[in-house]
Amino acid sequence: MRSVPASAAAVTTAPLLQVDGVSLEYRTARSVVRATHRVGFDVLPGDRFVLLGPSGCGKSTLLKAVAGFLTPRDGEIRLEGKPVHGPGPDRIVVFQEFDQLPPWKTVKQNVMFPLLASRTLGRREAAERALHYLDKVGLAAFADAYPHTLSGGMKQRVAIARALAMQPKILLMDEPFAALDALTRRRMQEELLALWEEVRFTLLFVTHSIEEAVVIGNRVLLLSPHPGRVRAELDTAGFGLAGLGSSRFQATVQRIHHLLFPDSPPPGQGGEGAEGRTLSPTDLRFAI
Ligand SMILES: Nc1ncnc2c1ncn2[C@@H]1O[C@H](COP(=O)(O)OP(=O)(O)O)[C@@H](O)[C@H]1O
Ligand SMILES: [Mg+2]
Repeated sequence: MRSVPASAAAVTTAPLLQVDGVSLEYRTARSVVRATHRVGFDVLPGDRFVLLGPSGCGKSTLLKAVAGFLTPRDGEIRLEGKPVHGPGPDRIVVFQEFDQLPPWKTVKQNVMFPLLASRTLGRREAAERALHYLDKVGLAAFADAYPHTLSGGMKQRVAIARALAMQPKILLMDEPFAALDALTRRRMQEELLALWEEVRFTLLFVTHSIEEAVVIGNRVLLLSPHPGRVRAELDTAGFGLAGLGSSRFQATVQRIHHLLFPDSPPPGQGGEGAEGRTLSPTDLRFAI
């Protein structure tokens, strides 16, 4: 994982990832589903860049395209200036599902596997690196355990260690904590931020939770409902979990809530809260 200085977000820094006017479609025999429409954004080295939007707005589809599993219908995705034409070890995805770890491999073997399969390292170096990252996620003591003996949160930490061990140029996370209970989810957010402080990787993180986006991201891209289009890009640097109760944090959450749900009361004022809501199909009319 390459290190980047804390001031990496300076405007002079060249983007690591460029998503340039990207439209993505699913084609079946009978229909074409447009998932995103001309979405554009740049991720700088060291960014914790969050894609936030309602279910079905194309967040996972965008992430799959950045990972190289889907080819844009229009536009281009570039990593360090070079067009993305398929999957590669420079982009690793962590998914929401707990079953992303083969159950017949121990925790350590799971983390070693991509390093060996991609011939990145030999067996001894792979074992060393696996233990290094397992230690970073607090699971060194569970190196020889099998996945079915771990909690959901621990399995996600293994998946994160496995991804970081590949030292990708960018780590892609698709709602990695969405299936966890609220307390575990909060702890995982805290740990991810602590890990970022230590390792300073570049992160592209997908969520439909406003609060999670503000906690995790230093920049948040707000996507409109299906098909996803860019609605706003917000600077959310300097919040983290410590800022959770602050008035600036609440103001930002409410501002995003208003951008998403212009006609409903903000969270805590009779509304049912920002999470889990679906947008009305009417186009949102607000200035970015
Ligand atoms: N494999 C697929 N085939 C056809 N349509 C799909 C497929 N996957 C997703 N879609 C559609 O593309 C749109 C975006 O989906 P997705 O990227 O999963 O949204 P999100 O992750 O924001 O919830 C949705 O309308 C969804 O129904
Ligand atoms: Mg999704």
